[in-house]
Amino acid sequence: MVIQYKHEPFTNFSEEENRRLFTESLRYVQSYLGNDYDLVINGERISTKDKIVSVNPANHDEIIGTVSKATVELAEKAMKSADETFQTWRKTDPEMRSDILFRSAAIVRRRKHEFSALLVKEAGKPWNEADADTAEAIDFMEYYGRQMLAVKDGVKVESRPIEHNRFRYIPLGVGVIISPWNFPFAIMAGMTAAAVVSGNTVLLKPASTTPVVAAKFIEVLEEAGLPAGVVNYIPGSGSEIGDYLVDHPRTRFISFTGSRDVGVRIYERAAKVHDGQIWLKRVIAEMGGKDTIIVDSDCDLELAARSIVSSAFGFSGQKCSACSRAVVLEDVYDEVLARVIEITKNLTVGNTADQSYFMGPVIDQAAYDKITSYIEIGKKEGKLVAGGKGDDMEGYFIEPTIFADVDENARLMKEEIFGPVVAFCKAKSFDHAIQIANNTDYGLTGAVLSNNRKHIECAQDDFHVGNLYFNRGCTGAIVGYHPFGGFNMSGTDSKAGGPDYLLLHMQAKTISEMF
Ligand code: NAD
Ligand code: ALA
Repeated sequence: MVIQYKHEPFTNFSEEENRRLFTESLRYVQSYLGNDYDLVINGERISTKDKIVSVNPANHDEIIGTVSKATVELAEKAMKSADETFQTWRKTDPEMRSDILFRSAAIVRRRKHEFSALLVKEAGKPWNEADADTAEAIDFMEYYGRQMLAVKDGVKVESRPIEHNRFRYIPLGVGVIISPWNFPFAIMAGMTAAAVVSGNTVLLKPASTTPVVAAKFIEVLEEAGLPAGVVNYIPGSGSEIGDYLVDHPRTRFISFTGSRDVGVRIYERAAKVHDGQIWLKRVIAEMGGKDTIIVDSDCDLELAARSIVSSAFGFSGQKCSACSRAVVLEDVYDEVLARVIEITKNLTVGNTADQSYFMGPVIDQAAYDKITSYIEIGKKEGKLVAGGKGDDMEGYFIEPTIFADVDENARLMKEEIFGPVVAFCKAKSFDHAIQIANNTDYGLTGAVLSNNRKHIECAQDDFHVGNLYFNRGCTGAIVGYHPFGGFNMSGTDSKAGGPDYLLLHMQAKTISEMF
C-alpha cells in the first residue's frame, strides 16, 4: 500500500545545520564543475564534437559543464530507439512504472541539497528557490506515481447481461519533451515523469542553458531501474532538432513548456500531417504569463506589499507565474506603492552561492538585453521609482525595478518581460481592476488581496486565469495542491501537478466482450 501523497517540505535555512549541509553540497558540486556529459540514446552514451557549454549566469568564468549536442542524425537514432522501446514499455505493469518514480524520488531526496546546489550554480537560483525547485521535482514524481495507480484500471462503465464492458487508458507513443530553464529540474523532471509513468517513451530536450541538471536526472532514472530507451537524453538546438522532432511522423505527442513564440510555432507545426504519419499529434503547451496582483481597498496592506515583492522579485521575476503588474485601488495606491518601494530598496542582488543575497542573476545575455530594453520602455511609459540598473560585467545582474503610474494599455502592462520588473497601475473600482488584469493575451496566474466577500466572488467568476489565489502572492503552486496551467496564450491549460494531467499523455480504449 502506497502512503498518501504529501508535498516535500522546504528546507529551513535559518537553522545552522541546514546551512552547513547546503554549504557542503555547494562544495561538492564545485568539485564536478566543468565535467563533460554525453547524450544518452537507448542507454548508450554518445559524445559529439559540438558541445553546449553551460555557464553560471552569476559568473561568466565558471563553466558548469559541457554537454554533447545532438545532431539531426542522432535525433533520428533516438527516435528509433524510443519507437522500438515503446513496444515493450507500453505493456509494462503500471505499478512497476510508478515504483521507478518512487525510487527516483527517494534517490533525489537523499541528494536533495546536491541538486539544489547545482541549481544555484547552473540557473543562478537563490538557496530557497533552488530548494523549492528540487522539492517540486520530488513532488511530481511522488504525485504522478500515485496518479498512475489511480487511473491504471480505467473508469467503470456499464455492462449488460452477457456483455462485459471496460474503459481503460493506454499510452500514446513517443513523446518529445521540451523543457525550459527557469524550473530546470522540476518542470523537466515532471514532464518526463508524467509521460513515462503513463507508458510512453520519450526524447528529452532540455533548455540549452541548463542541460547539466537534466543529465544528473538521467543518472537518477538509470539508478532507479528505468530500462534503456525509455528516456533518451538529447540536448540540442531548439531550432535544429526541435523543429525536426516536432515535424517527425513518428512523434505522437509534444510536451512543451516555454515561451509563447516557441509554443505557438510548435502548435502550428504539429498540426501538419507529414508523409507516413498515421495520427494527429497531441500538443501539451504551457507558455508565458503576464500575471497580476490586485490590491483591493479593504485588505491587509502589509500582506499586499509583501506579496507583490516576493511574487515580482523571487528568482528575479523569472517565473511564468511572477507578478509583473500590481493593480491597486486608487484609495490605497500611494500607501501600497510606498511600502513596496521601501521593502524593495532593502533587497540585495549578487551571486547566490552566498546565501545572504535575495536575488541572483538573470539567465543569460539575451535575457539581460531583453529585460534592460523593457526598462528603457518603462522609463517612457511610467515613473521609475526603484531600481532600473543592470550590470553584466561578471554575471547578468539587474536591480529589482518598479515603475509607477503605468497606463493600463502600456506595453509594460501587456507583454511578458520575464525579469525583475513590476508595473503599478491605478484602478478606479474593483471592476476596473479586473478589467485591467484581463487586458492581456495571457491568463496564467493572478492574486487578489481583499476582505470584501463580494469582490472575492466576483474575481472567482471574472478574473480569467488558470491559477487564481486570494490573500497571498501569485507564485508558488504546490504539486497536488494547486494544479498549475493557464488560459489563452498561456497554453493549453494542462494542469501540471493535477489529477487529470496524466490523461493528457494517454488515450481511452473501450473494450466490449460478449460472453
Ligand atoms: P523558450 O521557449 O525559449 O525555450 C523553451 C524550450 O524550447 C527550450 O528547451 C528551447 O531550446 C526549446 N526551443 C526553442 N526553439 C524551439 C523550436 N523551434 N522547436 C522546439 N523547441 C524549441 O523558453 P525559455 O526561455 O526556456 O523559458 C521561459 C518561458 O517559459 C517564459 O515565457 C515562461 O513564462 C515560460 N514558462 C511557462 C511555464 C508554464 O507552466 N506556463 C513554466 C515555466 C516557464
Ligand atoms: N509553478 C511555479 C509557480 O507557481 C511556476 O510559481
